[in-house]
Amino acid sequence: MRICVIGTGYVGLVAGTCFAESGNNVICVDVDEAKIEGLRNGVIPIYEPGLKELVHRNSAEGRLSFTTDLAAAVKESLISFIAVGTPPGEDGSADLKHVLGVAREIGRHMEGFKIIVDKSTVPVGTADKVRQAVQGELDRRGVSLEFDVVSNPEFLKEGAAIDDFMKPDRVVIGADNVRTAEIMKELYSPFMRKTNRLIVMDIRSAEMTKYAANAMLATRISFMNQIANLCELMNADVSAVREGIGSDSRIGYDFLFPGVGYGGSCFPKDVKALIKTAEECGYDFLLLKSVEQVNERQKRLLPEKILGYFGNNGASRPLAGKTIAVWGLSFKPRTDDMREAPSIVIIERLLELGATVRAHDPEAVREARKFFGDRITYSSSNQYDILAEADALAIITEWNEYRNPDFERIRALLRQPVIFDGRNLYKPARMQEIGFEYFSLGRTPTGSVEK
Ligand SMILES: NC(=O)c1ccc[n+]([C@@H]2O[C@H](COP(=O)([O-])OP(=O)(O)OC[C@H]3O[C@@H](n4cnc5c(N)ncnc54)[C@H](O)[C@@H]3O)[C@@H](O)[C@H]2O)c1
Repeated sequence: MRICVIGTGYVGLVAGTCFAESGNNVICVDVDEAKIEGLRNGVIPIYEPGLKELVHRNSAEGRLSFTTDLAAAVKESLISFIAVGTPPGEDGSADLKHVLGVAREIGRHMEGFKIIVDKSTVPVGTADKVRQAVQGELDRRGVSLEFDVVSNPEFLKEGAAIDDFMKPDRVVIGADNVRTAEIMKELYSPFMRKTNRLIVMDIRSAEMTKYAANAMLATRISFMNQIANLCELMNADVSAVREGIGSDSRIGYDFLFPGVGYGGSCFPKDVKALIKTAEECGYDFLLLKSVEQVNERQKRLLPEKILGYFGNNGASRPLAGKTIAVWGLSFKPRTDDMREAPSIVIIERLLELGATVRAHDPEAVREARKFFGDRITYSSSNQYDILAEADALAIITEWNEYRNPDFERIRALLRQPVIFDGRNLYKPARMQEIGFEYFSLGRTPTGSVEK
């Protein structure tokens, strides 16, 4: 099939590349000329494991191309995916200016029957707005052309995006036309070879499914973070509790790790947008409001623990003179994405408290510079370099290389052996055995809380 994917970001580039990998002819479109020029020269704008090889192969074999010319791409394609960003507007609702802008462009340039697919995460009712935007342009041109609008929300996870796209848990198609639903089924059939996991439903339910999924996952995270905080106050061990509840098949083990709060380009904005959608219907989504509040509080926990350890001496910058080494900047491992990363809140707070911050991240340093500039120092190569003469190590993102580090080396480099772990990577008993003061989440610390 001939497809164009408009918006060549984390979702559009992965989707376009995977569709090309299954034999389709795909044109990826973006307004960002530098990004498109780079992609034409084999430069991948994001870090996503396995993506580079697939882009290179499919480009070389002529199935995948990149352009800024939306008009030509739409004319050549039966299906146009809209995969542009839907950032939160000032009031928290999803800002649809990019989606509707693209819809108008499609209406301006289409010449025959088109299937227009909303892949961006968009609130219930957006397909109707897209339809109106396209129809408005056709009316303006005085032409009568058929088109269908489909909702096909994306569920891939950054860091495992290729696998998620190629072997999805499910593909949701919201369509109001059987012929179009069949074409979408055919497009996705290469990814459904073992079992059919394609679910066809009405458009509004498909739009809601994406928000419900993300809101549910965010709720699990905030719930577990509160359980962890309570465990810590009561000298219970959240790791044991996690095992205890995860073994219940109704609960399961996924998404039960406490941490420094959820971040990324999806959970924070989708939770906000769903609260706003509810509000617009006159419904108070109390639960989600709490999920959000808990998350905001959780992001502040690690700096408070650090402050508690070094002692709040009442000075305006009580951590002045202290150097905190940070492992992990991206909002989760295996991505360079810094959008809404908890590291932003944590590091900003440490700086506000007067600390000097040195950070290591294997992939996110370039993105992190956009947030912190020269206010902190960075390393992307050696995770130990930043530890020399630092007063403590704080772990924010659970990259694999932090899971089993050389503790002797850490101890030799730090001024004192103290670790604040926002991801519970190590066992407190072992940390105590090897002489570290170790503060994690929902487990009894092995050090004294105030110096
Ligand atoms: N990132 C994820 O993990 C993920 C997962 C599922 C769903 N989503 C949703 O998918 C959508 C896209 O997210 P993303 O992370 O890929 O965003 P992104 O910011 O990485 O990419 C969006 C791209 O669209 C381009 N763009 C903006 N306006 C355009 C226009 N008029 N024409 C052509 N290109 C244009 C931008 O230049 C950018 O390259 C969002 O709605 C998001 O919520 C994201």
